[in-house]
Amino acid sequence: SAPVITVDGPSGAGKGTVCARLAQELNWQLLDSGALYRITGLASERKGLALGDSMNEQDEAAVADVAANLDVRFEPTPLGVKVILEGDDVTDQIRTEEVGSLASQVAALPAVREALLQRQRDFQTLPGVIADGRDMGTVVFPQAQVKVFLTASAEERGQRRYKQLTEKGFNASLPALIEDIRARDERDSNRAVAPLKPADDATMIDSTSMTIEEVCQQVMQLVKN
Ligand code: CDP
Repeated sequence: SAPVITVDGPSGAGKGTVCARLAQELNWQLLDSGALYRITGLASERKGLALGDSMNEQDEAAVADVAANLDVRFEPTPLGVKVILEGDDVTDQIRTEEVGSLASQVAALPAVREALLQRQRDFQTLPGVIADGRDMGTVVFPQAQVKVFLTASAEERGQRRYKQLTEKGFNASLPALIEDIRARDERDSNRAVAPLKPADDATMIDSTSMTIEEVCQQVMQLVKN
């Protein structure tokens, strides 16, 4: 079957950029699993489904049903992949903080993770797939040939986020961003469902003082070996 590279790690470690570059360089499929959770969150909200702490079993089943039947297309364009949900271009909308928060709510539901499992595995086609997420090497592709766990210090990830926000003209507080990242790390690592942890056979890469280019080169070395 087609080869798989998995890249897991916390938010802000640079997985998205690294995976997009590697997919282009190798001409492999890119699986952005976070996008599937974001799209599920958005589609559930559009259908007016209950999300969050007050959900009951039926609500969870309804969201899992949305996840299992997503009408979504990924259209490659020269400027990146366009995301089309039920005929609507939602590429920019799924990147908002609001949809990120919906994504983390639906991602905590076991029935939703189960519903998205086969859809994620379907990305494994020749010549290969590079999978970006939290549980790619542990749950979705445990047999992957190359597994990377990409991290960076909370300070560095906070600084990267600060730079992104201020470049777009937004106000931001660096200490608040770092605090936020620490709290999110804590939640992601300790949640009952699919907690963030490296696969036993993953190679750890700490990108704190590395450029994107250097991280890509290190992963390419692993692919060649
Ligand atoms: O950029 P950020 O890491 O915030 O977002 P993302 O990678 O697009 O993931 C969005 C949400 O989906 C996060 O809250 C993750 O915890 C969740 N997720 C997950 O549970 N499992 C995955 N394989 C990918 C994302």
